[in-house]
Amino acid sequence: MTRMGVMGLGTMGSGITQAAIESGFEVVAVEVDDAHLSSGASRIRTGLERRVKSGKLSQHQVGGLLSGLNLSTSVSSFADCDIVVEAVFEDASVKAAALSGISGAVGPQTIVASNTSSISITSLSRNLKHPENFIGMHFFNPVPVMKLLEVVRGYLTSDATASAALDIGRRMGKEAVEVRDYPGFISNRVLMPMINEAIFALMEDVAGRDDIDKVMKLGMNHPMGPLELADFIGLDVCLDIMNVLYSGFKDPKYRPCPLLVNMVNSGKTGRKAGAGFYQY
Ligand SMILES: NC(=O)c1ccc[n+]([C@@H]2O[C@H](COP(=O)([O-])OP(=O)(O)OC[C@H]3O[C@@H](n4cnc5c(N)ncnc54)[C@H](O)[C@@H]3O)[C@@H](O)[C@H]2O)c1
Repeated sequence: MTRMGVMGLGTMGSGITQAAIESGFEVVAVEVDDAHLSSGASRIRTGLERRVKSGKLSQHQVGGLLSGLNLSTSVSSFADCDIVVEAVFEDASVKAAALSGISGAVGPQTIVASNTSSISITSLSRNLKHPENFIGMHFFNPVPVMKLLEVVRGYLTSDATASAALDIGRRMGKEAVEVRDYPGFISNRVLMPMINEAIFALMEDVAGRDDIDKVMKLGMNHPMGPLELADFIGLDVCLDIMNVLYSGFKDPKYRPCPLLVNMVNSGKTGRKAGAGFYQY
């Protein structure tokens, strides 16, 4: 049986854990303290209950799946893992400390993956004793539902690590695609400039908010318009990723729209703040 470690049981870590136990993996989840562990565990239970309600799992199966979940506050619990997925805050120094802790706890064969959405896998690999075993596994929220897994090969990632990560992703029921480590990978490199351009169009009064979203929903068959999607993702996250693209490529086509900057500075960061392009 594959034994997976997950570091950080926030939104993504709890989703990754749920998807992994549903796929028959044994999971060791590590958080900073007991309070974070228990809120992560209750998010996982709620996620599994939702699967029962939608008929994807039986109540009986839930108990069995939860018996494959081990909770810990010590990184040493990762010792026997085949793979450890890091899902801590999107902050390079927090990730550096987390990854060097993982690297010190696991064996020389263990694959270490980061769920970062924008930090360079190659730069993070400097915190690992075995950078050839390190790779990006970029899952999407909510993990149990979203089909895509972007597997990001760093400059030093070995072929064996890449094929093992693709295989684990497929065993978790994901459509895994392999991309190379350049700013924004594929997902954010394509998505964020589209959102940023929609914000420029709004700032320049080319059309109003609702009409910009309507063009993309009805004309391009997108389920959400770009401004609504930006609110959903969080305008601060969108700005951070535009800045990653801008500084990574040194190309002015990625400059963040000044309206986006103003909205973030004003605290109107989207749905989670109660206001962004729309009111919530
Ligand atoms: N939220 C999304 O939609 C999304 C999508 C794709 C990727 N990501 C990426 O996933 C990662 C996690 O994002 P999130 O939204 O789940 O964040 P989150 O804030 O919900 O969770 C982060 C968790 O990490 C824990 N943590 C921090 N330091 C730790 C440590 N040293 N050891 C153990 N646990 C630690 C925190 O206590 C917290 O519970 C980020 O890199 C983010 O960019 C997020």
